Amino acid sequence: MENMSGGGLRVECVHVSTGGGRIVTGVSLSVDSGELHVMLGPNGAGKSSLANGIMGHRDYRLEGKLLLDGEDITALPTHERVRRGLVMAIQNPPSVEGVRVGELLSRAIKVRHDPSEREVMTTVKGEIEAVGLPPSIIGRELMVGMSGGERKRLELARVLLMKPKVAILDEPDSGIDLDGLPAVADAISRLIESGAGVILITHQPVILRYLKPNMIHVMVRGALVAGGGPELVEFVERKGYRSFAVEVKGC
Ligand SMILES: Nc1ncnc2c1ncn2[C@@H]1O[C@H](COP(=O)(O)OP(=O)(O)O)[C@@H](O)[C@H]1O
Ligand SMILES: [Mg+2]
Repeated sequence: MENMSGGGLRVECVHVSTGGGRIVTGVSLSVDSGELHVMLGPNGAGKSSLANGIMGHRDYRLEGKLLLDGEDITALPTHERVRRGLVMAIQNPPSVEGVRVGELLSRAIKVRHDPSEREVMTTVKGEIEAVGLPPSIIGRELMVGMSGGERKRLELARVLLMKPKVAILDEPDSGIDLDGLPAVADAISRLIESGAGVILITHQPVILRYLKPNMIHVMVRGALVAGGGPELVEFVERKGYRSFAVEVKGC
């Protein structure tokens, strides 16, 4: 369906560099509201660097242009991008001693919305359960002593509670065992059903058994080397990432 409102995220000819040099080269893509785009690529390809650059992380210098719902957000600081609805689930959420899960999640809700305290508590509890975590986790310190799977689920819950317009999910499936994948996939489906555009970054296509992506992108050595429909997933599963030729396109 054609998106007349221009809702979603447009990434136009983006390069991302760190102090160590350029990591991502010439990436363009466009995710409409309600669409699921999947970015596949081996470890070290630059997937997280691209995500961090899009979010405006200070360690990742971005060149190129970013449009969120048609608005140029390229020069905006991270918190302004987030306030406008661009939200990322980070790959390795760190431990933060002294901050409780409930506190983080209620703060997250309030970044973009203004619900009553009562609503906040019910919504937080509901989302925690929906991602498959026990309600008792709400009183625990942030990520302290949590397993990889618990961290991922919590990070996903945080993103869902923010009701993003566009969500970048950085490997929400890694560290999740096979039994846990449906709950993670369900959370992603709920995001899409809520109208969010989603970029799902992963290096293992297993989770795609549960999802229906609109578009697959393959990143190798900092460049998008292939883009297409779900048939690309099968190709990657059969041939691996080594079969893609990396040609750096100028733009
Ligand atoms: N902050 C940083 N400083 C220096 N190098 C970085 C930084 N972040 C990522 N890199 C390097 O960029 C490359 C791509 O990393 P990353 O974006 O994490 O890949 P992926 O997410 O695809 O596994 C790696 O070689 C990594 O070491
Ligand atoms: Mg990564």
